[in-house]
Amino acid sequence: MRFPSILTGAAITLFFSGVCNGVNILMSNDDGFGSGNLRQLYDMLTGVGHNVYIVAPALQQSGQGGRVDFTTEANLTGPTQYNLVAGGAPSIGADPIDSHIWYYNGTPAACIFVGLDYVLPKFADFAVPDLVLTGPNYGTNLGPFVWTLSGTAGAAYAATARSIPAIAISGSNTAVPYYEVDGPDHDAHRVASVSFKIVEAIIKSSPPKHSILPLGYGINVNIPPLDDNHESVPVVQTRMTGGAEVDEAVPGKTPGTFTWANLSPRAAGVNQCLNGDCDLPGETEVVAAGKIALSLYTVDYTAPTTPRTNSLMQRLTKLTGWTGGKEGGKKGGHSRRWRA
Ligand SMILES: *[C@@H]1O[C@H](CO)[C@@H](O)[C@H](O)[C@H]1NC(C)=O
Repeated sequence: MRFPSILTGAAITLFFSGVCNGVNILMSNDDGFGSGNLRQLYDMLTGVGHNVYIVAPALQQSGQGGRVDFTTEANLTGPTQYNLVAGGAPSIGADPIDSHIWYYNGTPAACIFVGLDYVLPKFADFAVPDLVLTGPNYGTNLGPFVWTLSGTAGAAYAATARSIPAIAISGSNTAVPYYEVDGPDHDAHRVASVSFKIVEAIIKSSPPKHSILPLGYGINVNIPPLDDNHESVPVVQTRMTGGAEVDEAVPGKTPGTFTWANLSPRAAGVNQCLNGDCDLPGETEVVAAGKIALSLYTVDYTAPTTPRTNSLMQRLTKLTGWTGGKEGGKKGGHSRRWRA
């Protein structure tokens, strides 16, 4: 929120608590800072008084996952997406028409770090956002395999790792420059509108003075194709596994080359339920049925302990002379050491 500078501290408190309950938000994506989806959601969030900054890639950066790539060039070697900024300009900068919107010539996860460690502390009136939002992406990001590949996801789990609540959002519409979104019937407006409602509900669900999500948790939202009835599409709590896809390599058009396809039938490994509530439906299937899927994720990838994993570890202990194990660990801090 950009409140007038004449407000006193007390007035600001009143303004925050009584009027708009604005929160501080950092947005990013992998489609680029000129994305129609991104800017539609930004407009809706700022419209209700949230204080929002965007730090998003100068160019399209899909499929980068959590890769953190900082450019080594001080200046852009070519124009940014949609020629919004000319080549030769600095590799990081604000949008020519909105000082809250920044581009950076790096991967989505790099944009999150540059946002947290440079743009916000230096140019915003807050340093640590209450929430990071990534997307809405053009195209869904469904299932555990795609989760690690997606730049939308990568930017979200980078924020979660930095202790900041994050929501990754993916829609089913196609790319559009922000200046071509021409009203409420546009797909980008619909995707943003549905996203906005979900984000608002999540923000309002958090108890006062509490983080918007538990530490180490984030949310993955996937939105099916939308029509006129988009306001009534149900939101279903889902899990990442369940009907999820994984890639296989198939011959490309040029002999000796390969491309990817979705493995069919679906692989059991990517659909094994290991964490969370196994009774929840899979997000892939829920979106295929035309509903909005909402999965909680954590950045703790540690596998559950089972009799089978215990016996595996016992065998390793015998084979390698590994010191440690259960008896060596202290509560809350098991550090297991191997003899060199
Ligand atoms: C980058 O551009 C600025 C002008 O915006 C220029 O002063 C500077 O020399 C350029 N840096 C490089 C490494 O080309």
